[in-house]
Amino acid sequence: MEFYVYRISELASLVGLSRTALLYYEKLNLIAGKRLENGYRVYSDRDVQQIRLIQQLQAGGVTLAECKSCLESRLDKAVLRLRYDQLESEIKQKEQALSLLSSLLGDKSSKPWHETLSEIAPDAHIDWLKVQGFDEKQALRVKWLSKDMNEHDKYMQDFMTVFEPLESWGPNSQEDTSKAFTLLNRNPNNILEIGCGKGNSTIVIAKLSNANIIATDNETMALGKLEEKLELHCLKSKVTTQCVSMTELNFGDKQFDVIWSEASAYIMGIENALAKWKSLLKDRGALVFSDLVWLTDKPSKASVDHWKSDYPDIQSVDTRIAQIKKAGYILEHTFTVSEQAWKDYYEPLQQRLTDVASALGNSPKHCMIFKTR
Ligand SMILES: C[S@@+](CC[C@H](N)C(=O)[O-])C[C@H]1O[C@@H](n2cnc3c(N)ncnc32)[C@H](O)[C@@H]1O
Repeated sequence: MEFYVYRISELASLVGLSRTALLYYEKLNLIAGKRLENGYRVYSDRDVQQIRLIQQLQAGGVTLAECKSCLESRLDKAVLRLRYDQLESEIKQKEQALSLLSSLLGDKSSKPWHETLSEIAPDAHIDWLKVQGFDEKQALRVKWLSKDMNEHDKYMQDFMTVFEPLESWGPNSQEDTSKAFTLLNRNPNNILEIGCGKGNSTIVIAKLSNANIIATDNETMALGKLEEKLELHCLKSKVTTQCVSMTELNFGDKQFDVIWSEASAYIMGIENALAKWKSLLKDRGALVFSDLVWLTDKPSKASVDHWKSDYPDIQSVDTRIAQIKKAGYILEHTFTVSEQAWKDYYEPLQQRLTDVASALGNSPKHCMIFKTR
């Protein structure tokens, strides 16, 4: 026995739907109101329950037509599977959005979000960091180093505590720099070095060449160390230092015979650097750069996970060569930087981390010694 106790307006407010929507449900035979003698439509508890069931299905993305066939016949599992997959992916997106808002509010680390954005929208990521008040240098440092704008200042303080006294800021060695200079087989008049750090390679190329060298970096402290070395090696007349970002170089077209960039082009992205720096080179000019690449087709999962986070644009040698050619360069030589160069970089770094571990706050203190092959 059905009790028809709800007028359409009462039913509408009970289930949160409009009168028009209920009439449409009725037209589809999803609910079955009864018309009274006075012309009013009335509905039963069964209609209320039927609508609630439909609303549950709709919340899962099932359309009204699909609800109808679900209620009238056997479940169409293929359709439900499709809706399930769609809902699952929507929930994942929403979870990401929730996590983003939470990290932007400073409630949790924004590292995973910065890592993802750095990979999927690298330029927009930097632009957005600048809008948040980071200057270009700091924005790049959030991208490459702290990966967490909420903890950035503390991270950078710790980073500098570790790196400041280290002689080597990247995997380079006198032998590898000399080898690259010899392979260059040129007698350049001028060289632009980009991201020179404390100038280990600058000293080597200054000794090997007769060129005027402009050594650039955006870290004044590192350039100060280079100045000291130049003084020590009586090379001041050959090298000028300039504190400038590699993304804002202010040189004319075709100004340099050689551009030298050891372990630094990655900062603005290799393809970006290849494109932007090309116009600075004279005809027959040469770009010498080093980059961290896969030397194996089958890197271990641990390596993939590590570099996916630390260098998402890591590529194979073949991919880099293809990019070099695509950017309009002719490839002259490539070689693998020696294992010793990596050791000379990582071993003092590992030691330094051990020495200052207790002075570092909560910044990540991992360091990996790894083989190049
Ligand atoms: C991995 S170190 C390599 C240093 C040096 N070439 C070597 O091989 O030892 C990267 C260098 O790039 C510099 N750097 C970072 N961002 C830069 C930027 N936007 N413009 C210029 N130099 C930058 C850093 O200060 C650091 O000296």
